[in-house]
Amino acid sequence: MKWVPRESLEKRLAQALKRAPVTLLLGPRQCGKTSLAQRVAGRARAAYFDLEDPETPLNSQTLALNLRALKGLVVIDECQREPALFPFLRVLADRRPLPARFLLLGSVSPELARGVSESLAGRVTHVEMEGFTLGEAGPEHADRLWHRGGFPPSYLAPSDAKSYHWRLDFIQTHLERDLPGLGLRIPAAALRRFWTMAAHLQGQTWNASELARSMKTQEGTAQRYLDVLTGSFMLRQLQPWFGNLGKRLVKAPKIYFRDTGLLHALLRLRTQGELRTYPRLGFSWEGFAIEEVIRRLDADRDCYFYKTHGGAELDLLIERGGRRYGFEMKYADAPATTKSMHVVMEDLGLAHLWVIYPGSRVYKLSEKITAWPLDRIAGLEL
Ligand SMILES: Nc1ncnc2c1ncn2[C@@H]1O[C@H](COP(=O)(O)OP(=O)(O)OP(=O)(O)O)[C@@H](O)[C@H]1O
Ligand SMILES: [Mg+2]
Repeated sequence: MKWVPRESLEKRLAQALKRAPVTLLLGPRQCGKTSLAQRVAGRARAAYFDLEDPETPLNSQTLALNLRALKGLVVIDECQREPALFPFLRVLADRRPLPARFLLLGSVSPELARGVSESLAGRVTHVEMEGFTLGEAGPEHADRLWHRGGFPPSYLAPSDAKSYHWRLDFIQTHLERDLPGLGLRIPAAALRRFWTMAAHLQGQTWNASELARSMKTQEGTAQRYLDVLTGSFMLRQLQPWFGNLGKRLVKAPKIYFRDTGLLHALLRLRTQGELRTYPRLGFSWEGFAIEEVIRRLDADRDCYFYKTHGGAELDLLIERGGRRYGFEMKYADAPATTKSMHVVMEDLGLAHLWVIYPGSRVYKLSEKITAWPLDRIAGLEL
């Protein structure tokens, strides 16, 4: 497989390693955590341990002895395997001067993140990663990235068919092995049904009771399924903006797949041609564009959508430094302004609104509204 450089991710990781004695690199299965850490480790001549390796010298008996002696960078892969590690790392992170820094890798699990944060409060920094972005894949490969998604083995597969089958296997493994491995006892068949239904809800506001009804289950169960797939980085719940403007706002989150490749696999869209004729492809593209904007602007913690019962709507709202920025995703050749855009500009007092679209030209729609090609997302700054 061809190697795809991930420079800005490497830079983020290097900065994190300088910031705190312990760095936690989290991301879904197969997104490239080990590959990234091995490059960083190679350059830093780091000690590398994989706790999934049955021969690892780091088990609960030998942990203390082996780790205490190490200097420089120490990488511990699949760290969720050994919970005894975390309280012990706290002791090691408090030594002064600091002889060693630790990079921990794990597949996403809220439990893991919480366990680590609690044992290592004030000593740990998080870096989150996912599959390839458009910046990494290159804008000329936007259609392929959209259709196949960003997991390296899917994106780089030699054919659409191989990519599709890799994604189907990934979904099955996630249901049958990864989630149970995190201690979550959820029937795989029911969760698969939920996940497939979620594919048809891409870009819609979440309605637990409706979903529970169609699955013939309880509302709480549907909510739990949603939370599990969100926690394992499969889905994003984009939250509604909740400021007080004296308007009636929609209060439920919107649901998006974080990886459009998995969305398309569940929808059985095997080829780019099948995607092009999919009646709801606009929702798929919207989710793809939203993920790209959020990752480009590192906006995971300050992103929302905006929707009033009066019908005004904004796909993505980012609040930063006391200002509000808007993004509308338009799957169209040459989008123009709409009435809703002007209403939203006014309602929210947006500093700027970008209309993200699949074309190639940046152009002004008004003083504070710019049409911006998704392909040029790397150049977008607030
Ligand atoms: N930058 C890259 N360019 C090309 N291929 C890559 C890149 N990063 C990862 N891969 C490939 O993607 C696959 C998954 O990568 P890796 O094992 O690093 O992921 P991971 O997140 O550690 O997965 P797991 O959670 O299953 O341990 C591997 O086949 C790897 O070779
Ligand atoms: Mg790994």
